[in-house]
Amino acid sequence: MVTILGIESSCDDTAAAVIQDGVLLSNIISSQKVHESYGGVVPELASRAHQQNIIPVVNEALKKAGINKEELTAIAFTRGPGLMGSLLVGTSFAKGLSSALDIPMIDVNHLHAHVLAHFIKENKEDDNQPKYPFLCLLVSGGNSQIILVKSYKDMQIIGQTIDDAAGEAFDKCAKVMGLGYPGGPVVDRLAKIGNPDKFKLNKPHIQGYDYSFSGLKTSFLYLLRDELKSNPNFIEENKEDLCASLQKTIIEILMDKLLKAAKDLKINEVAVAGGVSANSGLRAAFEDHAKRFGWKIHIPPFGYTTDNAAMIAMTGYFKYEDKEFCPMDAAPFSRVVM
Ligand code: KG4
Repeated sequence: MVTILGIESSCDDTAAAVIQDGVLLSNIISSQKVHESYGGVVPELASRAHQQNIIPVVNEALKKAGINKEELTAIAFTRGPGLMGSLLVGTSFAKGLSSALDIPMIDVNHLHAHVLAHFIKENKEDDNQPKYPFLCLLVSGGNSQIILVKSYKDMQIIGQTIDDAAGEAFDKCAKVMGLGYPGGPVVDRLAKIGNPDKFKLNKPHIQGYDYSFSGLKTSFLYLLRDELKSNPNFIEENKEDLCASLQKTIIEILMDKLLKAAKDLKINEVAVAGGVSANSGLRAAFEDHAKRFGWKIHIPPFGYTTDNAAMIAMTGYFKYEDKEFCPMDAAPFSRVVM
């Protein structure tokens, strides 16, 4: 029996999870509220909150899984990318616990883990995992990538944003409408009751599978600036239609390149991961592509879309099977190439 404790502390969520033989036993997340009033994550406050949260979160994960720490086989932790101060808390904790228990430590790339979240089994019978090779659209606040996944450790980024990430496009446009932070979920909610064809926004023209969202952001800003000149209530009166049009455009940009990649590479197994995969419009676009193009799609349960430790434990489980452990002097990394 292989029992892995996963620890995630790359940004503003302190999380711990236990996976036994690939099956999830517990998944605990403590999200930090302290950043809300700043309109974004404050790194120093994040690392302090991780220090306060990490022991209770790990204890809760073990308790919920019904195991003692002495029963753990290995400890997997997020080594990067992320905020250095935040990563240091999880990394140091993993080092301390693994040396106290005398069990191996496994370092996990946070981005790989988002992709591998699709392999988490919620029960023994769960057999809906993707088959290699598959494409994964990884869309979050910091990344927009199309990844060709050939095995758990062979991932190739075939397209990525050359400027803003999709989540940033949601968040920045939401911010100028005064919708708060993070704006993605608010845009999603308002878009449901808006007209997606009301406003025409710019789409990029770049070669290959790369993305760009800065032109869209600028065209959105100019639209607001021009309309506000004649109608100061323009945003308030049109916010549902603005959100629906913005969301529709972001999704079209994402899906056009993904479809091109799937056609060119003749791959019909397609997954989505990262915070923006919670978006209801993007989920509907995946369902629609499954019907129209015969895709077998993999959309994560909501709990695995944002940062979580279940995906860290899952990746740790794969690496454990290959005996890929990490030395005690491993330092976290804030930036990464996959
Ligand atoms: O993966 P994630 O939790 O972490 C970061 O990369 O920071 O992604 C967060 C991003 C934010 O930009 C947030 O606005 C976006 O995911 N997001 C959404 C939705 N839920 C979260 N964007 C659009 N629609 C949503 N429902």
